[in-house]
Formats: sequence, structure tokens, C-alpha cells
Amino acid sequence: MNQELRQAARDYLVRYGGDAFENLFVSAKGSVVTDDTGREILDFTSGQMCATLGHNHPAIVGAVDAAGRQGYHLFSGMIPEVVAKLGKKLGDWLPAPLRRSLFVNTGSESNEAALRMAKMHTGGHEVIGMGGSWHGVTGASSSVSFASDRQGYGPAATGVFALPEPNAYRCPVEHCRDACDMTCLKVGLRLFDMQTTGKAAAIIAEPVLSAGGVIVPPEGYFKDLREAADERGMMLVFDEAQTAFGRLGHRFAANRFGVVPDIMSVSKTLGGGLPLAATITSDEIEQSVHEKGFSFYTSHVSDPLPAAVGLAVLDTIEQENLLERAVDMGAYLRSRLDDLQQKYEAIGDIRGEGLLIGVELVEDRETRVPDHRLGAATTQRCFELGLSMNIRRRPERGAVWRIAPPLTVSTDELDRGVEVLDRSLQHCLDERANGR
Ligand SMILES: Cc1ncc(COP(=O)(O)O)c(C=O)c1O
Repeated sequence: MNQELRQAARDYLVRYGGDAFENLFVSAKGSVVTDDTGREILDFTSGQMCATLGHNHPAIVGAVDAAGRQGYHLFSGMIPEVVAKLGKKLGDWLPAPLRRSLFVNTGSESNEAALRMAKMHTGGHEVIGMGGSWHGVTGASSSVSFASDRQGYGPAATGVFALPEPNAYRCPVEHCRDACDMTCLKVGLRLFDMQTTGKAAAIIAEPVLSAGGVIVPPEGYFKDLREAADERGMMLVFDEAQTAFGRLGHRFAANRFGVVPDIMSVSKTLGGGLPLAATITSDEIEQSVHEKGFSFYTSHVSDPLPAAVGLAVLDTIEQENLLERAVDMGAYLRSRLDDLQQKYEAIGDIRGEGLLIGVELVEDRETRVPDHRLGAATTQRCFELGLSMNIRRRPERGAVWRIAPPLTVSTDELDRGVEVLDRSLQHCLDERANGR
């Protein structure tokens, strides 16, 4: 361990929110990251939910290497061959009529582009986002995000409306318990209809609300949302930052839910750990916004390096059957977690799809009072025992472990992870029983 570097991290870096570890990190491979003490830690967050192939998969390393010989970056008006290849490949993967992609770097950016397209196409500017959503930190993306802090940065975009999220475990309109009957959707739309100035542009939704506590909407929800958008002349935008490319066991959540949005935003999982994102739409919408002067001209739009990586990610998902693997490993992990729930009263709910799983901790299963203290203590203890895992904790949304290992994770690694969760829960509950 290099104390000087640890001190440098404290002295020279801007703190950017979230929980940061004391330790520094030196390498990452597969499902494991190694810190500056040489300790190996299981990574059940897949980096920042991006490294679905595992860290530094040989296919990604090979693509970066090849790009080093062919070019990392070009003038934005020069379309690299590899970008055309990725556009075509993605077009083949997408549900019709989605076909055309704009390649940028981050999810904040691809959502920004999606909302600009929706506004230009419709001529409106009002956007509905979902409670508990997280779409990024840039202007329009953060304006429609409700999972985290909105305070301290001045006014959000005007014309933004929140739709209460379909959280069956913790119903935001305090109506349902365990089975969402979509009253939240009806209430939210009714409020929007009262407030709109007639300039509606888009509804943006994460198909599974991840930062909001891994909320999977009930069957039929997206069909109704699609109809709600159509009735109001709004574009339906899916933010598939976390759900696209296998995490749920499907190419896209749009396939899983059987609903095709007008615009899709993909990011994290497309680059497998490198910055690549895309805003995707139909020929018709692309033509319409092009004619109206659509522009999203950035320094790194259509860069060849990330595109080469994106191609490698898609090829690897196919070659290694990672969609099936996410389903199988997800079912295995789920069964192991179900066993833990039998053992610990503190586990109130387990939910999710494929390898995106939320485990909600409560003080009492009947009252469902969130156990934030246990959430924080167990997450810390897991790290000490060699497992990195996220805790989502907002007072109104509960304390939820978010478990999302790479799709390439082995059953042995899942067993080790669950064993750490078990030991950590037992330890923290014992400490509490002993008044510590
Ligand atoms: C669903 C979703 N959309 C968008 C973003 C923002 O992406 P980025 O951090 O790449 O800007 C995130 C990031 O966590 C996300 O989870």
C-alpha cells in the first residue's frame, strides 16, 4: 500500500458524491478487482454497472489494441468504417422500427440527445420522468432524474413532471401492497394532464428503475405507458443504460417487455467499461429531426476506439451466449438469496430480473420500516470481507442492496459472494444484539 498515493487522492481530487473507499485500486480482471493492499475483491457492481463481460475481457483488450493501430479519434465529420459497422450490427439487433444510431460517450449525453430529438420532432418541450429515476448529470438528463439530489444547482428545465414509480413494495401513492395495480400511473397522468401547457414532448423511463431501488414495473405497465405517450403525441424514450445488452437476459428490455419506444438510449453496457453510448431511433424520426436541423456535434461523437469496443461487446455476447447465461446465473443467485431471506427476517423483499437484483432490508417485515443502518453496516462489512456491492438508500425508498455482477460471473463466485452477504448480515445483527 502506498500511503503517499492515498494521501494524494485525498489532497488532489475533487470529491464527486457517493461513497468512496479509503483504499486505492490497481487492477481489475473478470469479476475481481484488486486494491492497493493486494486484496482481491469480488465486484458485484460490474464497475459502475458497465463491465457486463467482466473487467478487461480479452475481446475488449483486443479491440483497444487494434484501435491503437487504426486510430482512436477523428474529425467529427469523418465517419470511421468501424462506426458504420457498429451502426449496422446494432440495427440488426434492434426491434423494428428502431434502426439509426448516434454514437456518443456517456448515458447523460445519450439521454440529452434523446430529449433533444423528442423536443425537435414534436415541437414540444414538456417531459415526464419517473419517480426514482436516474438519467445522468447534464442539464436535461438531471432535470428528469428524481433518484438523487436536485438541490443546489439552480433551476431544473421547465416543463418537467414526475410520475410516481410502480413500486409494489413501497407504493408511492400508498395504495397497493405487493401487487401494483397501476394507480400510480393513472394518478401521475391525471396530474400531468392538469398541468400541461399543451407542449408535451416525451416520457422517459428506465425499464427497470435501478438507482430507485431495482423496481420492475408490473406486466402491462409499458403497454399502458406506450398508449399514454401516443394519446398525448409524446415520444416514448427508454433509457436502457443498465438493461440493454444482456443484464436482464434479453438484448434489450424493450424485447423483454414487448414494447418498442420511439427513442432508445443505451450507454454503460454497450462499452463494457469504456465510454460508449448511443441514441437510437427510427428512420422516420431521424428524417424529421434532420430536416429540422438536428445537431449533436461533440468532440467524441462517432469516435472509432469506443465503436471498436462496442462491436467486440456485441460479438462476445453472441459468442458466449451471455443472454442465456444472465438468465441461468440470475436464477441461481436468486435461489441462493431466497435461502438467505428464509434465514434473516431483515430481508424484506428480493426483486429484479436476470442479473440485476435488489434486496431490501427492513426493521420489520410487517411495518417495512427501512433499515438504513443495517444497509450501511452490511455493505461496509461486505467490503471488509471481500465483496463490493451497492446500497441504494433514500429515506422514502428503502435500503436496497443492488447486486449486479458481470454476466460472465461463475457459480463459484456467486457462492462466495452470497457467503459474504450471509456472514456480513450475521455479524451486523450480532453486533446490534450486543448493543454495539
Ligand atoms: C439508467 C441510467 N441512465 C443514465 C445514467 C447516466 O449515465 P452516465 O453516468 O454514463 O452519464 C445512469 C448512470 O448511472 C443510469 O443508471
